[in-house]
Amino acid sequence: MGIETSCDETAAAVVKNGKEILSNVINSQINIHSQFGGVVPEVASRQHIENIGPVVDAAFREAGLAYSDIDAVAVTNRPGLIGALLVGLSFAKSFAYALQRPLLAVNHLEGHIYANFLEHSDIEFPAVCLVVSGGHTSLLYMSSIGEYELIGQTRDDAAGEAFDKVARFLGLGYPGGPAIQKAAEKGKPGRVVLPRVYLDRNDFEFSFSGLKTASMNQWNKLKRKGSADVNDLAAEFQAALVEVLVEKTMQAAAKYKVRSILMAGGVAANQELRNLMKNRGQDIGLLVHYPSLSLCTDNAAMIAGNAYISYIRGNFAPLNVNAYPGLLSL
Ligand code: KG4
Ligand code: ZN
Repeated sequence: MGIETSCDETAAAVVKNGKEILSNVINSQINIHSQFGGVVPEVASRQHIENIGPVVDAAFREAGLAYSDIDAVAVTNRPGLIGALLVGLSFAKSFAYALQRPLLAVNHLEGHIYANFLEHSDIEFPAVCLVVSGGHTSLLYMSSIGEYELIGQTRDDAAGEAFDKVARFLGLGYPGGPAIQKAAEKGKPGRVVLPRVYLDRNDFEFSFSGLKTASMNQWNKLKRKGSADVNDLAAEFQAALVEVLVEKTMQAAAKYKVRSILMAGGVAANQELRNLMKNRGQDIGLLVHYPSLSLCTDNAAMIAGNAYISYIRGNFAPLNVNAYPGLLSL
C-alpha cells in the first residue's frame, strides 16, 4: 500500500506488483486552501491528521482487502511540505510496525514518473522525461526504469508555480494550472506578446520567473489602456510556457538519441502541453507518453507503484527514516 501527504492531497492506494491499481483514494484539500489563494502549510498538516485514517481505511475497502493482506507499506518522505510529509510518514511507520511489514520510503518525483509505468507497458529506453509539478521542473535522461540523470532544470520558479502565481495575479483562483487552461480556451495566443524565455540558449535550463513578471507587466499596461482581456493573456502565457517546455524536450530527445519521451507531474495534465508534445513527437517519430489525468496530479498509486522497485531490490527503510523538504537526488 502507498501513502502520500506531501502537499494538499491526503492519498492512499493499494497496488499489486507495481502494476495493478486495486484502489486509489484521494482526499483533496483544494476547497480549503483556495480561500487563501494557495496552500497554507500548517492547515495542510492539520487536514492530513484528520484525513489520513479514514483515507487509508477507504483504500482497503475499495480494494476489498484486510490490513494483513498487504506485503509492504510505502510512503512519500521527500520532497514536500515538511509538516505534511511527517503526518504520512509517522502514520506509515506505525502501520508497518503494527503489521510487521517492511517500510518503503519514496521520492515524490520518482512517484510522478512511475505513473507512466502504471499505465504503459511499451515504454522504450533510453527515454527523456520532463518533470513538471508545482515545485519542480526538470529534464531527466532515463537509461531504464528507476535510473535517472538530471540534464536540466529551472533556475527559479517551477512551471506549476508560474501557473499558480499568474492565475492568482489575474484573479483566476487556485490551483492556477486548470484555471489558466480554462481561460486560455476562450482566448487567443499572440494578441499579447510574451517572451519564450531561454529558448535561444543551447542548454536544458529553464526560467519562468521572467515570464511571470512579463505577464504581470503586460496585464497592468493593458488595464491602463482599457484593453485587458484575461483570456488572451492566459492563452499567451500558456503558449509561451508550453512552447519552451516542448522545444527543450525535443532538443534533449535529439541530443541524447532517445527512443521515447515521458512527461510527469501536475502540469503534465495541461491539455495544450499534451497536444503539442504528442504532435512534435510524431514529427520526429518518437512515442510520447503521459499518465491519464487523474494519475498526473498527486496520488498514492504512483507511490505504491514506484515502491515496488525498492521492494523487489530489498531496499527497505529503517523505522528511524526521516522526511525532507527538498530533493536528495534527481
Ligand atoms: O504534481 P502536483 O499535483 O503537485 C506537486 O507535486 O507540486 O502539481 C501541482 C501543480 C500546480 O501548480 C497546478 O497548478 C498544476 O500542477 N496543474 C496544472 C494543470 N493541472 C494541475 N498546470 C497546468 N495545466 C493543468 N491542467
Ligand atoms: Zn506532485
